[in-house]
Amino acid sequence: MLDLAARLKREPYSLRPLEGPQSAAVFFDKTSTRTRFSFAAGIAALGGNAVIVNPGEAQLGAKESISDTAKVLSRMMSLIVWRTFAHAGLEEMAANSTVPDINSLSDDFHPCQILADLQTIREQKGELPGLTATYVGDAANNMGHSYLLGFATAGMHIRVAGPETHMPRADIIADAKKIAATTGGSVTLFTDPVAAVQGADAVITDTWVSMGQEAEKAERVAIFGDYRVTPQLMAEAKPDAIFLHCLPAYREFEVAPEVIDGPQSVVWDEAENRLHAQKALMAWLLKESK
Ligand code: CP
Repeated sequence: MLDLAARLKREPYSLRPLEGPQSAAVFFDKTSTRTRFSFAAGIAALGGNAVIVNPGEAQLGAKESISDTAKVLSRMMSLIVWRTFAHAGLEEMAANSTVPDINSLSDDFHPCQILADLQTIREQKGELPGLTATYVGDAANNMGHSYLLGFATAGMHIRVAGPETHMPRADIIADAKKIAATTGGSVTLFTDPVAAVQGADAVITDTWVSMGQEAEKAERVAIFGDYRVTPQLMAEAKPDAIFLHCLPAYREFEVAPEVIDGPQSVVWDEAENRLHAQKALMAWLLKESK
């Protein structure tokens, strides 16, 4: 998948699996910048047409079941992309559709972001197996969960640092450890961000207030205050460590401006790679995997 993403970055129009144009349904139950534009641009570059559906614009969820929607869309669309809240909805869509379904973020996982992050780290560091990456902050959110599974799959040593009260789900930790045992990677949880970052090749964070948690903002800022990525924290990592953030970023909270706007930051490459990685994912699902 990452080889395909690198190829599509070099040769953006070299694969046209949606030629026709065929159409792809792209649902947003939550707001988005990167996901919206990267899927719209990516589907067009693959020869297709993106049907973007904003909250309240379709019958899905309110007036029509997910399973009936999946059956209808399978007759018209070549692909379904859905950003939503409950992960169970995505599973129901996938179970009832005959075209590929892509999770473009749920409350539990954000796998498209992980593909882009892996592409970015590979560009900067070469091969992924054996590298150490530390995710600092809300370890219980969709990014914390996805780093565990995705980076373990890549054979990396994934460290996650967060408060005791905001650790990843136990079943996801167990799954990631099982995966790491087969890839040569490892999974380690920390409450001390300094210990977690020591010697890391990559340091990563995410917003402390995810979509849907706005009412808890003051409480969450207090909980995660010790997990801010500062120049002092970055100094604990390898001298050539890189900094990643899936964006949008809050410079007054989870990351200091000197870090995100400094020389170790690769966040703009990371954002761009959403386009290339998702094109690779779509091309693979539509053609290369058959
Ligand atoms: N990282 C990410 O998913 O960005 P958007 O919420 O803007 O799509």
